[in-house]
Amino acid sequence: MHAGKLPRDTATGDTRCALVSPTAGTAPGAGAAGASPANVAPARARFGIVYLVGAGPGDPELLTLKAARLLADCDAVVHDHLVGAGVMALVRRDAERHYVGKERSHHTLPQGDINALLVRLAGEGKRVVRLKGGDPFVFGRGGEEAQELARAGVAFEIVPGVTAACGIAASTRIPLTHRDHAQALTFVTGHLRDGTMNLDWPALARPRQTLVVYMGLAALPDLCHQLIAHGRAASTPAAVVQSGTLPGQRSVVGTLGTLARLVAAEGLVPPPLIIVGEVVSVADEVNAMRSIAEAYALAAD
Ligand SMILES: C[S@@+](CC[C@H](N)C(=O)[O-])C[C@H]1O[C@@H](n2cnc3c(N)ncnc32)[C@H](O)[C@@H]1O
Repeated sequence: MHAGKLPRDTATGDTRCALVSPTAGTAPGAGAAGASPANVAPARARFGIVYLVGAGPGDPELLTLKAARLLADCDAVVHDHLVGAGVMALVRRDAERHYVGKERSHHTLPQGDINALLVRLAGEGKRVVRLKGGDPFVFGRGGEEAQELARAGVAFEIVPGVTAACGIAASTRIPLTHRDHAQALTFVTGHLRDGTMNLDWPALARPRQTLVVYMGLAALPDLCHQLIAHGRAASTPAAVVQSGTLPGQRSVVGTLGTLARLVAAEGLVPPPLIIVGEVVSVADEVNAMRSIAEAYALAAD
């Protein structure tokens, strides 16, 4: 592969890495001398592949067609706690299922063991779907897993998913950008590797931007406090949305000055997404007008 060029499958147009077998040279029939077509195992038995697939924010209908096809066709699926039953129902019935968890501070399997599991399954010649909530490359450790697979010489492909911010923007009708309110959109995590939330507060507090915080519930009081302390108005609209796009979706809407108290009173639980910015108030307007439109539509029935 040449620097600056992405590999592209010429037959399908898919962008992917070169197909390298982790078992090359050791698979049955792959011995140095004397290998012949008769004693070389079929490609599918020798060459595994891992698909890092985004499962979207929860609603199975937000899955890509490609993700649904791979789930129906895989030999093994390795999935996180954020992947719901609706998506798991699409997995091939006789595929191996490996639950690897990953709730905050409660990892069912350490990341190193997850990486090793993926390499092992691919080494057994399996088509493996590593299924992650949202998009695998947005706060999903997809980058770390891709690095490990590349180091181990395992073929892999990335299948994007609808990240929580986009799914929730749609289900709550909060537009993430808006020409009158937000020309910039920033995604941050409220849970850094070392457990701190050491963010660039002056940059995050700048006006005319929407801030989306993943994994930020525990840090919500500090987050609101820091944004106000660095110049964002306490009256800035802000929302926390739990279980976005799922039937149990719950939202709490307030301002930077009130949100932490409101959320504590409502008792929201993970996974919650925090959205800060004037765009949150656009949803109120849109939803109010929608209610009127729905009332007219019902009356006309
Ligand atoms: C480890 S991150 C994974 C993000 C994921 N890769 C994505 O692109 O959405 C987990 C965080 O995503 C957010 N999240 C994911 N799905 C969500 C949902 N359905 N509702 C609310 N927040 C969600 C929460 O902030 C949660 O703590």
